[in-house]
Order: sequence, then structure tokens, then C-alpha cells
Amino acid sequence: MNKGFIFDLDGVIVDTAKFHYIAWKRLANEMGIDFTEEDNEQLKGVSRVRSLEILLELGGIEKTEEERQMLATKKNEWYVELIGGLTSDDILPGAEDFLEEAAGHSIKIALGSASKNAPFILKKLGIDRLFDASIDGTQVSKAKPDPEVFLKGAEAMSILPENCLVFEDAQAGIEAAKRGGMKCIGIGSNEVLNGADLTVSGMDKITVKQAIEILEN
Ligand code: BG6
Ligand code: MG
Repeated sequence: MNKGFIFDLDGVIVDTAKFHYIAWKRLANEMGIDFTEEDNEQLKGVSRVRSLEILLELGGIEKTEEERQMLATKKNEWYVELIGGLTSDDILPGAEDFLEEAAGHSIKIALGSASKNAPFILKKLGIDRLFDASIDGTQVSKAKPDPEVFLKGAEAMSILPENCLVFEDAQAGIEAAKRGGMKCIGIGSNEVLNGADLTVSGMDKITVKQAIEILEN
């Protein structure tokens, strides 16, 4: 069967999750909202607009649509500044080797990221060449846990959803993969992530062979 691997970007391939956190925390603190790493888990994988809504809900603050736009833009400007210096050194351990090895097994590879900054990041890391298809936040209208981003990734690779394996570090992303009828590897801690077919602490903790076995069983 033709197989596809779909990768989330932030927190799976590159360590940008910490920069999202720094930027959201700065915005939260400016508004007098206390914001912890635990709170930040809820923002992982979800769109920029939805992330801001969650943040405002946490703080019990209401903002107009116009104010929300302004706040989201401000956060993104800080975030873009923080990721400006990204290089291939910021690729998470094991990720690049895994992508290259998967391609060697004739597995199609897609990006399935909620981030509108994804094309910029892939270019900075110098790994855009490794993807057969790329779906990012500019191409979807529904945020994870909706499966739209992964279903579009499968479609772009011409692979059936049930023959796709998703790699995700966010709970919302694991749910999206499952709702899309796909297998899923959670990247992170078992204490935080639920519902994946297997959870490992990083891309260096799983082999392409193991991933194929999970997809086929
Ligand atoms: C996801 C991140 O990959 O992208 C989220 O996990 C982030 O934390 C989302 O909110 C949107 O990213 P961006 O770059 O479009 O603000
Ligand atoms: Mg992620």
C-alpha cells in the first residue's frame, strides 16, 4: 500500500514551542494574566486566533474583534523576531534523519501545521526539499482538533487517510489525527498526551521501521 507520514512542525521537527510560549507569556503578563507552561499546553497545535481566545478566557478578559486582531499581530511580531535566528541547528534530534530515511522507503511526506509561519520556518531550517506536500495555517479554515489540515495533507499526497501516520506533540493534533481516521505517534510525555497509538519523547526515539509497523497494524 502507498503510505504517507504527516508531520506537525512546531514541537515535532523544530523547537519553536518555547518561542510561542515566550511570546504568549509576554502578551499575557502585559494584560495582567498569569500564564504557566501548563496553561500553554492548551495553546499547542491550535491556531493563532484560537490561542488568543483561550488566553483571554484564562484571564477572564473580553476584547473586541479589532483589539484581538491587534493583540494577535503583536504576539506574532514578537514570535517572528524570536524565530528570526533559526538555523538547521534548531531541528529537533532525529527529525531530519527520520525524514530522509522515510523518503528512502518510498513513503510520501507531508507537513500538517497550524502555523502561518511554517513556510518561513522550513526555509530557515533548509528542509523544505524533504516534503512532497505542505499544508499550513494559511490553507485551512478550521483549527486542530478539526482534522482539516491532515485530510488536506493526505489528499495532497494522494494517500488515503487510513494509510497515513501523523506525528504530533499537541493533544489537539492527536485528536485531529484520530478524527481524520489516521494513526498517530505522540511526541512528548505520556502524562500530557492521550490517545496516540504510541507516544515517544522525541523523533530520535522512534525508527522508520517501527513507524511503518504501527501504520500497518
Ligand atoms: C502551531 C503551534 O504549530 O501553530 C501553536 O503549536 C500556534 O502554538 C499555531 O499557535 C499557529 O502558529 P502561527 O505561527 O501561525 O502563529
Ligand atoms: Mg506542534
